[in-house]
Amino acid sequence: MEGRSLDADTQMATVKNIIGVASGKGGVGKSTVSLNLALALSQTGAKVGLLDADIYGPSIPLMLGMKDGSMEVEDNKLQPADSNGLKVVSFGFFADQSNQAAIYRGPIISGILKQFLVDTNWSELDYLIVDLPPGTGDIPLTLAQTIPITGILVITTPQDVASNVAVKAVSMFEKLNVPIIGVIENMSHFICPNCDDKHYIFGSGGAKKISEQFKIPFLGEIPLNYGIMSGSDLGKPIMITDVDSPSANAFRVSAKNVAAQCSIIASNLQEEMESEASDAEPSSITSISENPTS
Ligand SMILES: Nc1ncnc2c1ncn2[C@@H]1O[C@H](COP(=O)(O)OP(=O)(O)O)[C@@H](O)[C@H]1O
Ligand SMILES: [Mg+2]
Ligand SMILES: [Zn+2]
Repeated sequence: MEGRSLDADTQMATVKNIIGVASGKGGVGKSTVSLNLALALSQTGAKVGLLDADIYGPSIPLMLGMKDGSMEVEDNKLQPADSNGLKVVSFGFFADQSNQAAIYRGPIISGILKQFLVDTNWSELDYLIVDLPPGTGDIPLTLAQTIPITGILVITTPQDVASNVAVKAVSMFEKLNVPIIGVIENMSHFICPNCDDKHYIFGSGGAKKISEQFKIPFLGEIPLNYGIMSGSDLGKPIMITDVDSPSANAFRVSAKNVAAQCSIIASNLQEEMESEASDAEPSSITSISENPTS
């Protein structure tokens, strides 16, 4: 495969962190978590974009109550839609095309994603959350190879059927040298209205297992909650409608952990670049005396 084009790197330079949200299986709540994390980050004051890259099953417009939303083009750039402070781009906004997505083949799909990434007027963003389709197909691959992403956030449910496939996604991104930000367990437990206890009805430990096996951070557990589901279907995300609920709280905790991991990855990268730069110029003088470790 060809290397990343410098062009794409400069085009995305106004976006500080790009987070791909991946899973092995569909239906684990990847879109739900992407959206509510985006809102949680935004509620801390960060500027946040949300790219619904699930071309085969775009669900973000529905979850935001923007089913009839559309996107404008200005100066040859896509203008993201605005919702609850988020900048949103989704294939679902192109109503006619989304019915036909299933017939598109790899190169076309990759081209569409590249355009959504690079030819969108994101302006300044602290975080761009990219809701990927499940699995290890063309879209996740294109994301990893087109732009400098901060890392991948893996979503799984507690069951082995989900975590065993999530492992495949983690392996693929590791092979591509894309950092893994961490793993979040969704539908982790049920907070019982009768006894207030957490009931781990799907078993427990799916995400912890991945976290230990791959030595990647465990960033949170989101409870199973009726309000999360009904809110999604009605276009009313729980981070907007029920900010004091345990679910919203769980999203806030996860968002904080995600932000912290992004900072760690960024500062590691910075250190790497500085050490490479100083390796490349052995005779450049001033920095050496100032930095005893180099
Ligand atoms: N924590 C949760 N509690 C209850 N329902 C959930 C939760 N997370 C997701 N759901 C529901 O599960 C279904 C699948 O979620 P979705 O985010 O579309 O999954 P994916 O994007 O992985 O396919 C949706 O109906 C959604 O509302
Ligand atoms: Mg989805
Ligand atoms: Zn109980």
